[in-house]
Amino acid sequence: MKIAVIYKSKYGTTKNYAQWIAEELNAELYEKKEFNSKKFKEYDCVVLGGGMYAGAILGSDLIKKIHCKNLIFFTVGLADPMTTDYSTHIEKIFPKAIPENTKIFHFRGGIDYEKLNFVHKKMMGMLQKFVGKKENPSDEEKLFLSTYSGKVDFTDKISINPLIEYVKTLA
Ligand SMILES: Cc1cc2nc3c(=O)[nH]c(=O)nc-3n(C[C@H](O)[C@H](O)[C@H](O)COP(=O)(O)O)c2cc1C
Repeated sequence: MKIAVIYKSKYGTTKNYAQWIAEELNAELYEKKEFNSKKFKEYDCVVLGGGMYAGAILGSDLIKKIHCKNLIFFTVGLADPMTTDYSTHIEKIFPKAIPENTKIFHFRGGIDYEKLNFVHKKMMGMLQKFVGKKENPSDEEKLFLSTYSGKVDFTDKISINPLIEYVKTLA
């Protein structure tokens, strides 16, 4: 199978996942800006990944442009995929239904506040003020508050295994 992995990452965690996936699948690795719809017709399977920013998923606009037999889409965010409901985010991307040739996976990223750009620092500052006022923050919100302004890294290579196993079933 000819496989391409495409990613869009701002601070590198999605890039790490994309590199791990490409290595495991012996796939070709591309940044989103290298995408060209003619070229990606050649692939039997395209794996597309993007970081999550305020509920939006970077690179998801490519989904409409990728026409291949199998599409694997993955997101990378700070929230814990085991306890997060992604349905509203996914419905925005696939308003009707998730096509049969498409499978979605969610992975956990990280954050280093020192490296954030000005706009992202401001956004996180606003979120911290908002969440900080809550009387009963959720576990996710408590984690956000406790890590605010610091550095956390939840990236985990083993978490890609279900994606790798799924792609192998397509061969
Ligand atoms: C401004 C901002 C908004 C974010 N919004 C979300 C979000 O809605 N959901 C989430 O799970 N993580 C969110 N995150 C965390 C990022 O998704 C996380 O840092 C991810 O690892 C970034 O991927 P990247 O390093 O590939 O850019 C946000 C981070 C920033 C700085």
